[in-house]
Amino acid sequence: MLVDKFDRTFPYLRLSITEICNFSCQYCLPDGYKKTGNENFLRLDEIDRLVDAFIELGVWKIRLTGGEPTIRQDFTKIARMISKRPEIKTLAFTTNGYKLKEHAQEWHDAGLNAVNISIDSLNAKRFHDITGHNRMNEVRAGIDKALEVGFEKVKINVVLLKGVNDDELDLYLDYIKDTRISVRYIELMQTGDNLTYFNKFHQSADHIRNQLLERGWVENLRAIGDGPAVNFTHPNYQGSIGIIAPYSKDFCTGCNRLRITSSGDLRLCLFGNIGIPLRHQLQSDDQKEPLKALIHKQLEYKASSHFLAMGDTGIMTNLSSTGG
Ligand code: 5AD
Ligand code: SF4
Repeated sequence: MLVDKFDRTFPYLRLSITEICNFSCQYCLPDGYKKTGNENFLRLDEIDRLVDAFIELGVWKIRLTGGEPTIRQDFTKIARMISKRPEIKTLAFTTNGYKLKEHAQEWHDAGLNAVNISIDSLNAKRFHDITGHNRMNEVRAGIDKALEVGFEKVKINVVLLKGVNDDELDLYLDYIKDTRISVRYIELMQTGDNLTYFNKFHQSADHIRNQLLERGWVENLRAIGDGPAVNFTHPNYQGSIGIIAPYSKDFCTGCNRLRITSSGDLRLCLFGNIGIPLRHQLQSDDQKEPLKALIHKQLEYKASSHFLAMGDTGIMTNLSSTGG
């Protein structure tokens, strides 16, 4: 098991498989993804070795992220390869949902059992403004399909934006009244690229929290193994609401995840200052032991928390490049 100096354990790996995204969300890739010519993302065999090592280090949950992970031609193949491993209990992915309706069945059949879909507004025009794509209805149809084909967990990510979508709580509540969806409100995070945007649109998650409490929602007690989200439930609603507030005190005490970038760097924290290259240890099967030793060693350097409050966003330029 991976344990750090602060007694946190890391059963959860977020694995980015591409930096490329076809959306242009204002807070992430406002001008869209620009090719660098260096699009040399982890190959199938490298991913296989990485997963193998992390399983031996106690990982049982993996999330495929990007960029937009489903852009990869071999996305289904990657999912099938990982889900074959009985040690992996949860295989999740995060998507902007643009191909979900068409592929939900195929991806579920490939062993994916949890999906997070970004949908920052339930108003089609706003959705278009935020993402650069007039596809809200398509994405919603994809969410319906994911529920229909039997994904165990379906979550919706909403980045809270002041004056843009912070008046939509009741729309989301209506949406989850009779649907087993978990809505996750994510506080806008400052990244290397988005300072002006951040200053203009950052809204504290307390804005949502207070409205939930007013409406009779109850904050669940944290259980061991819970991640940094705070969850709320209400007896009259099938769905639930989670709040992800990285600027709140104690956010990092619940940290249970490590990240791998699409080029095979280990990131100990979303906002950390180092990326530890692992790719050179993914080239043959006999490198597993040194790879595991390297990961163990590096974990000693995981800091107790990020330094976001001081405006230090680490080396992350945007979430698409680091893996959301
Ligand atoms: N702050 C908060 N959330 C962000 N995301 C991307 N960039 C940011 C940011 N700067 C979200 C996406 C997606 C998830 C992976 O991260 O909207 O839902
Ligand atoms: Fe793409 Fe996600 Fe970034 Fe939006 S937030 S541009 S969907 S990677």
